[in-house]
Amino acid sequence: MIEIRNLQFRYGEDQPLALDGIDLDIPPGQWLALIGPNGSGKSTLARCLNGLLLPTGGSVRVDGLDTAAEDELMAVRERVSFVFQNPDNQIIATSVEDDVAFGPENLGLPREEISRRVEAALHVTGLLALREKAPHLLSGGEKQRVAIAGALAMASHYLVLDEPTSMLDPLMREQVLASLRLLHSSHGLGVIYVTNIIEEALLAERVIVLEEGRIVREGTAEEIFRDPQWLTAHGLDAPQACRIAAMLADDGYETLRGALTPEELTERICELS
Ligand SMILES: Nc1ncnc2c1ncn2[C@@H]1O[C@H](COP(=O)(O)OP(=O)(O)O)[C@@H](O)[C@H]1O
Ligand SMILES: [Mg+2]
Repeated sequence: MIEIRNLQFRYGEDQPLALDGIDLDIPPGQWLALIGPNGSGKSTLARCLNGLLLPTGGSVRVDGLDTAAEDELMAVRERVSFVFQNPDNQIIATSVEDDVAFGPENLGLPREEISRRVEAALHVTGLLALREKAPHLLSGGEKQRVAIAGALAMASHYLVLDEPTSMLDPLMREQVLASLRLLHSSHGLGVIYVTNIIEEALLAERVIVLEEGRIVREGTAEEIFRDPQWLTAHGLDAPQACRIAAMLADDGYETLRGALTPEELTERICELS
């Protein structure tokens, strides 16, 4: 469980609060989407989860470990891995497999255990054929999958991703999401997914909306995105299917309201006749 209590953060003494009293529990194995307009504090909150940033006030605990306790920070980082927006900012080693092995090597695990973990991580993320390649020769989507494989090899409990697909084309984006879905469903990995792409937020079991450093709404994707007017009023886009559904509902086709995906909308249209 990640327990966030009255978390405050400011970037400097003369700066305003970037996070202003966040209270949030993230159970293990949950897929959580963090959305909100630019500057609302998503990246700041994400970075507080594994101690990349330390609270100015309040606390963040990961499985009971305090991110602000110096002697607990390493254990926090083992449990919570981070995937950055720019895939070039996280490659360390000169080959894919060395990069994935970096985390477990730092933990001082036995050689066979490291090999076993690296093998499994490369397999799940579809990177076996690229294991000897130099990471800088990979595509952006492959680099993000290397980062995800690294988290798996660490046996992390939670993976925090800060707009991980925003620099990727749709095909690469789909590959990254497929790796994540697999890890979430088969390994019980908790996913904290920061995104401005509403269609990606729909994958989450739970959605948190940030505004000016505060949580202004939380619920299931359905609860949040069913309400395009609220989203628009808060500077957010509703999913395209949902906007079309709302327009048609306003025109009298009330049963379409709340359809979230193109598939769901099509299904409901078929039921009209
Ligand atoms: N390195 C920084 N130094 C000073 N202020 C920052 C820094 N990074 C972010 N901020 C400020 O903190 C607030 C939250 O930013 P951020 O967490 O990056 O929001 P988001 O990820 O939702 O766009 C914004 O007002 C932003 O200007
Ligand atoms: Mg950000």
